[in-house]
Amino acid sequence: MNFNLLLSLILIINGFKSSIAEEDWSYKNPDEWKTQFPKDCGGERQSPINIEMGSTIPGKPIGLKWNNYKKLAKSASVSNNGHILQLNHQYNDDEVPTITSDLFNGEYYYFQSNFHWGENDSTGSDHTVDGKSFPLELHLIHLKKGYDSLDEAVKHEDGGVVIVGFYEIGETESHVINKLLQKLDDFKAVGSDVEVEPYPLSHFEVVESKNAWVSYNGSATYPNCWEVVTWIIPTKPYQVSQSQMKKWREIEFANGDSHNNRPVQPLNGRKVCMHPKEYNLLEWLFHLIF
Ligand SMILES: *[C@@H]1O[C@H](CO)[C@@H](O)[C@H](O)[C@H]1NC(C)=O
Ligand SMILES: *[C@@H]1O[C@H](CO)[C@@H](O)[C@H](O)[C@H]1NC(C)=O
Repeated sequence: MNFNLLLSLILIINGFKSSIAEEDWSYKNPDEWKTQFPKDCGGERQSPINIEMGSTIPGKPIGLKWNNYKKLAKSASVSNNGHILQLNHQYNDDEVPTITSDLFNGEYYYFQSNFHWGENDSTGSDHTVDGKSFPLELHLIHLKKGYDSLDEAVKHEDGGVVIVGFYEIGETESHVINKLLQKLDDFKAVGSDVEVEPYPLSHFEVVESKNAWVSYNGSATYPNCWEVVTWIIPTKPYQVSQSQMKKWREIEFANGDSHNNRPVQPLNGRKVCMHPKEYNLLEWLFHLIF
């Protein structure tokens, strides 16, 4: 190879590296995201928020329907990009899990899930409830049918619906966390991307559970902070054990970060709606009689 060509290749490669470094972001300085990603991160409908239960607006049951959540994916993987731990599932076209609800128009298909956590049991969730943090928060990310990719969905303000699961420390281990922990050594390093044995999404405690929910309009909780998300949040946490969380914290972050939860953002006049739990007829009668 001639020397000049080699030299220009080295320059090009270095150019790439530094442009990646400039775009990178950290949980150590989330206030800088609005300068780094000015389009959305400094917007007026940012997430997460603190949910003040006493200030929620009463609404109707949301009629959330889960379709295909018991189906087994063709393949599943876990990837750690140093900021977010992503769970990916590939389905046959006619078996992709979807949700519908009276809260939104159309159908949303399951896209990906991820987790947010922190250094110790008193911190970690993105959202807080009456100022309280949980050690772990799950996001089940859905995109609107008709928007066939993330790039397309983030161009529309009704692009995404995210369903949350909070976890608190308890006696009960989370089955699905245990399943993931079996492969911990394969995905804990930054940059890992490993196949895991497929499992039905119904293993996540929040799927198909009967809850009271809160909803509000917000954004992705990390850059580019796209303001396209309807958030659906159950008011009660699920359980994870202390030793499960201890192991979970072996997952490594990029840039020396020690957590991947963003501080809560101002409401800016947004409404948070409270939707009561739905009863079926039998439960309703039981409720009336007792
Ligand atoms: C937990 O972590 C938070 C922030 O990461 C820190 O401020 C707090 O002091 C820690 N609490 C305990 C009990 O170590
Ligand atoms: C969210 O935005 C939609 C569409 O603009 C609106 O119909 C809905 O009422 C908003 N939800 C809340 C809780 O404000």
